[in-house]
Amino acid sequence: MIELAPSILSADFARLAEQVESAAAGGAVVIHCDVMDGHFVPNLTIGPPVVKSLRKVTGLPLDCHLMIENPDEFIPAFAAAGADWVSVHQEACVHLNRTLQHIRDHQMQAGVVINPATPVETLTEVLDMVDYVLVMSVNPGFGAQKFLPRSVHKIRRLAELRRQRGLSYRIEVDGGIALDTVVEVVRAGAEILVAGNAVFGKGDPKQNAEKLLKAATEATLEKV
Ligand code: DX5
Ligand code: ZN
Repeated sequence: MIELAPSILSADFARLAEQVESAAAGGAVVIHCDVMDGHFVPNLTIGPPVVKSLRKVTGLPLDCHLMIENPDEFIPAFAAAGADWVSVHQEACVHLNRTLQHIRDHQMQAGVVINPATPVETLTEVLDMVDYVLVMSVNPGFGAQKFLPRSVHKIRRLAELRRQRGLSYRIEVDGGIALDTVVEVVRAGAEILVAGNAVFGKGDPKQNAEKLLKAATEATLEKV
């Protein structure tokens, strides 16, 4: 089962409710919120107030991808704002186990994220305590970047480890996902597809979401 999670980073923030609604009409089932602090990544975006506003206009799960230093400090604020899923970067967490537990203690789904240069093996000790693993297929910080193909073997490896260890985390991929890359990541085992530019960049978010989901679903039929 493939889930499309449009990233609002590429949406028109003045018309956020409308844009989210349009993507949902096209089959999106999760809304991905990119939170950047200008320290962990070289860009600034949104925080809990925008999540709180989104909460009022959609019933879809809000997937908050924290690209920030000291994420522990902000987990309660995201929970209070109505976030459903929170993911933190392995690279940003000195006490990763504690941070993931902190997310779960706030009744949210916990995800762990790895940058393109971070190996899957760095997650070995936490795979049994996460609801999802997010593989970055671009260096985080900006939308509309070029997909990095080396991320595909990490998706495959995570699917293999899950089988071997009898775990149930879901595999999410983020960065450069579009019609020309979606088949490859789905065949490798990605189940939650984040897409910003491909959904909100140009044209109609509804139609863009539909096309992307169609290509992704067709790819599952040929999965090897
Ligand atoms: C990158 C963000 C992504 C980004 C994806 O730092 O985490 O979620 O918005 O955007 P596209 O799909 O445009 O690569
Ligand atoms: Zn993201």
